Amino acid sequence: MPIVRPPASLRFQTISPSAHRAPTGNKPRKLVGALLFTALTALGAAPYSALASCEYSVSNAWNSGFTANVRVTNDTDSAIDGWQVQWQYSGDNRVTNTWNAEVSGGNPYIATNAGWNASLQPGQTAEFGFQGTSTGTAEVPQVNGALCEHGGSSSSSSSSSSSSSSSSSSSSGGSSSSSSSSSSSGSSSGSGSSSGSNTTNLYSLAEFPIGVAVAAGDDSRSFLRIPEKESTIKQHFSQITAENIMKMRFLHPAENTYDFADADQMVDWALSNGLTVHGHTFLWHHEYQVPDWMRNYNGDFQIMLNEHVATIADHFAGRVTSWDVVNEVLDETQSNCYRNSLFYQRLGSDYVNAAFIAADAADPEVDLYYNDYSISGGNTAKFNCLLTMLDEMQAEEVPIDGVGLQMHIQIDWPTTSHLRSAFQAIVDRGLKVKITELDVPVNNPYSSAPFPQYTQYTPEVAALQKARYKAIVQTYLDVVPPAQRGGISVWGLWDGDSWILDFENWQGADDWPLLFNGPANGPYQEKPALEGFAEALLGQ
Ligand code: XIL
Repeated sequence: MPIVRPPASLRFQTISPSAHRAPTGNKPRKLVGALLFTALTALGAAPYSALASCEYSVSNAWNSGFTANVRVTNDTDSAIDGWQVQWQYSGDNRVTNTWNAEVSGGNPYIATNAGWNASLQPGQTAEFGFQGTSTGTAEVPQVNGALCEHGGSSSSSSSSSSSSSSSSSSSSGGSSSSSSSSSSSGSSSGSGSSSGSNTTNLYSLAEFPIGVAVAAGDDSRSFLRIPEKESTIKQHFSQITAENIMKMRFLHPAENTYDFADADQMVDWALSNGLTVHGHTFLWHHEYQVPDWMRNYNGDFQIMLNEHVATIADHFAGRVTSWDVVNEVLDETQSNCYRNSLFYQRLGSDYVNAAFIAADAADPEVDLYYNDYSISGGNTAKFNCLLTMLDEMQAEEVPIDGVGLQMHIQIDWPTTSHLRSAFQAIVDRGLKVKITELDVPVNNPYSSAPFPQYTQYTPEVAALQKARYKAIVQTYLDVVPPAQRGGISVWGLWDGDSWILDFENWQGADDWPLLFNGPANGPYQEKPALEGFAEALLGQ
């Protein structure tokens, strides 16, 4: 099947900020023009005796634009209620849309807290972001404001724009500094800051990404709406995956409309906090994820899918480290192993290779994974389907870098030796092994024992789960050589967020599949499962 790339004009087309859904809450909003210049002078009359550090950093830059963030951190012992900062570019940088603050002005710009991030407890940080235009240089201006401007002068600096560099400047109490550093898109990156709690940073124990799936965008569970969630993610993880908002229906809701606003906000957050992003997923057959327009598409289906993949890969090129190119293609109950999905019905199995080729052409640097469930060895028929498909792909030199094993597994299935042989078979093919969606519920609906097996999370159950997490990580370290470790990601931060609780097979039973417990808004408690994970990474 020939691979047809869409014309550049189509590939780079995204909807303008004004065409996004009406801004609500922390959605990106379009600047409405120059306002409030008088407020600049008012800023001189500081109502605060407090000091905050105000830091501007460029999270991404390309030829004609950039994204940047400003972090305002309360460095004092008392709470701050409301904040306002300003900055001005000396060159041609201009802001086009923003999130997480009310921004007005047209250089200089004034940012005022949103309703929900007005109050900053001692040590707490508010962060807002924006996208802008430039002609080649993403400037790093000084951020000023009554909170940041105490006692003296400060300097600012500019940095050359490059999609692989980030730069920042900060001011606090009159002194300021600026710096440039390489951004981390490699496998050993870590989040730059910790919440300062008494525990370790899980990610710092590994030389490969330790990831977590996050709800974002409109989702009420969004980590950008729950400060405790945001800080726990920063503390323990070096990578995030969008639990939902980078799936087909979210990014490509209508034939000629891509909506990247929520995903961009999430990706910018990750990059400005030193985390990488694993993309999930260009193609997924699931009913609720295939957009209606695609289901009814009458044109050349393969050209349309190529454009879908290429446009999304292009958009995130340089900012997303790896992608699940296609999700859940295999079905071992079909004679030829391919799921009888819409894609298969229209194109046969060719669409799988085509998706990898289109993604690779759009972003040659990004790691490309095939992602599926029940491919960790316990289901021999499905695993054989996987190996056959991988062998065929490799024979045809399809640009696949690795296999994503979802690993929504059971406490007692598959066995460690199943895992071992599954990892090994992938390693033997020279591919990376990435555990993409790990969770370990304590109840097993497929067991012969009456379900649910456990109705309470007792210390005994916790110990069982700890041992299981530990064995999984140990097996991964034992079998997968460092160069082939794509990382390990858990599918959600804390038990109450787990998709397992909504999964029909659980029939409404309770469960505790993840690494943290807690109330919905935190504080989150580290479970023995997290200890098991950490002990394995430490070789204990
Ligand atoms: C799940 C999400 O966690 C849920 O919030 C959503 O309602 C359904 O999808 N395998 C995958 C993931 O590849 O995308 C699924 O995520 C879980 C199973």
